[in-house]
Amino acid sequence: MKTAQHILLPAFAAIWLTACVTDPNSPGLEYMPDMYRSPAVEAYVDYGQEPYEVGEEVARAQRNTPSSRKPAPGTIAFRGTDQLAFALPYPYAQTPEDYERAGLELTSPLMTNQANIEAGQRVYEAMCTQCHGVEGKGDGALSVNGHIAGIPSYVDKLKDLPEGKMYHTLTWGKGLMGSHASQLSQRQRWEVIEYIKVLQQGGEMPEFDENGMPMAPSDTPESEDEPAAAPAAPAGMEGMADNASY
Ligand code: HEC
Repeated sequence: MKTAQHILLPAFAAIWLTACVTDPNSPGLEYMPDMYRSPAVEAYVDYGQEPYEVGEEVARAQRNTPSSRKPAPGTIAFRGTDQLAFALPYPYAQTPEDYERAGLELTSPLMTNQANIEAGQRVYEAMCTQCHGVEGKGDGALSVNGHIAGIPSYVDKLKDLPEGKMYHTLTWGKGLMGSHASQLSQRQRWEVIEYIKVLQQGGEMPEFDENGMPMAPSDTPESEDEPAAAPAAPAGMEGMADNASY
């Protein structure tokens, strides 16, 4: 106890004495000044990380680095790896020449596989059937009731329409069909084109292998010998045949 007094009393006395200064404007010795005088932080000034965390040297090196500068004009915000999710500029103008050019040059970045075709089918059924019809024959409700005339069929007039022209039309619109660029992302436009290619072939969904890749008709095992359709399910059991093995 005695020893503690001997040490603590002179220590307090020393602090007390040195805390007093003659300058009346000086706050004296401050303990944790940030607590009562927070630093004035300016927006868009790079102060570096907290020196207490990273050390004064690192913080100083970080200060005034260009991280808060404005990006160059025309910069496209980009995050992640899915390029199609972003509105990268479309290089073809809305002219008949560029429509032809898109038809020759522009090809789909997507694979023709089950996932993309089925995603395209969902887009098609939600956004295109009212004009183009479920099978793409140009007989959707708006065509039948006479609101929009001259919707072509994918199976005859548009049978050989290249995918680049489809994309161009979806992006810019054509005739009475408006642009769908604001409703469909680039990926969705290419997905629905995957499904239109199925409709161009008559609308029969291809068979897919275990990797989701479409099989050519000759790849279908024993397709020649098998009856075209599975035997009809007994009355009341339609649609249950797929569950038979469970
Ligand atoms: C308001 C009705 C309407 C809707 C909705 C519509 N279309 Fe069309 N579409 C048309 C008409 C009309 C044409 C014929 C345009 C022309 O050649 O003048 C057309 C033409 C097309 C063509 C052929 C373009 C070409 O280059 O000749 C494609 C492909 C097409 N539509 C795809 C779609 C898809 C995919 C959707 C859904 C995302 C869709 N359309 C939604 C009315 C519509």
